[in-house]
Amino acid sequence: MARNIYVTRRISQRGLDILKNRYNVSMWDSDEPVPRDELLKKIVGCDGIYCLLSDKIDAKVIEAAGSNLKTISTMSVGYDHIDLSMCKQRNITVGYTPDVLTDATAELTVALLLAASRRIVEGVNEVKSGGWGTWKPYWLCGLGLSGSTVGIVGLGRIGLAVANRLKPFGVKRFLYNNRTPSQQANLVAAELVSFEQLLEESDFVVVSCALNSDTKEMFNSNAFKKMKSSAILINTSRGGVVQQDDLYKALKTGEIKAAGLDVTTPEPLPTDHQLLSLSNCVILPHIGSATDDTRETMTILAAENLVAGIEGTPMPHQVKI
Ligand code: DGY
Repeated sequence: MARNIYVTRRISQRGLDILKNRYNVSMWDSDEPVPRDELLKKIVGCDGIYCLLSDKIDAKVIEAAGSNLKTISTMSVGYDHIDLSMCKQRNITVGYTPDVLTDATAELTVALLLAASRRIVEGVNEVKSGGWGTWKPYWLCGLGLSGSTVGIVGLGRIGLAVANRLKPFGVKRFLYNNRTPSQQANLVAAELVSFEQLLEESDFVVVSCALNSDTKEMFNSNAFKKMKSSAILINTSRGGVVQQDDLYKALKTGEIKAAGLDVTTPEPLPTDHQLLSLSNCVILPHIGSATDDTRETMTILAAENLVAGIEGTPMPHQVKI
């Protein structure tokens, strides 16, 4: 019997062909997210769902799909948008796309860190608006990486790749905070410390952890109080890790120096959001993994995960539930 797959967004032809060669595929053929009502209608009776991080695959969606649903594959490394306990209850396997986006995301994290610390966006804006007068000794000065301490919250694949890229800039110490020690921390001589110590001693705090009940809003007013007033926060993981009202206050009052965010709550961030009024906050539209090659590789890997999930063979990358 032919299996039915629902794809929640327009994906590349190569990714689609992997699925179409085997199954009946119905796809939301748009670059915009599928409306919730449409999703709830279209997934009824599906054997598999191919989704993105912007689709909320909660109990309601899983229930609407019904008892045929065998596997969910997300084209992302993060899977906080999927109700895993519901998947476990129903024996639904979940695929995701780690590794293939590590380099792209680490590269963007470094770019964002440099943009925030060396005030790149402010500089560009000054050039465009005529604010660039004569050369001034103390104008648009920022913070350098040489001799600095970088704290990484979540030293996983991406955190480690960020540390490797930052090392040649002359970083003196890497600190990290994880639930369990990283087996690879020695590759960058990173020291495992408490969250508090990391906040107190880091010049740059890089957030690379997954969003879950432990990490939700861990960057709140208490955390900002512990950070150096010269510190810079960089977040390329999930917006939910940061309490944004508290971040706004910390940036506005000088409790911390600057922030670079590739992720926010919500996404997209409304254009009148208070964080966008701050010159010491650089915000990007969740483009960590956005290189052509990476996105194509993610597309294909997500399709391969889905096929394996449907066929009951080992998935290239399956979430451990
Ligand atoms: C992910 O995959 O979870 C990233 O946030 C986007 O590529």
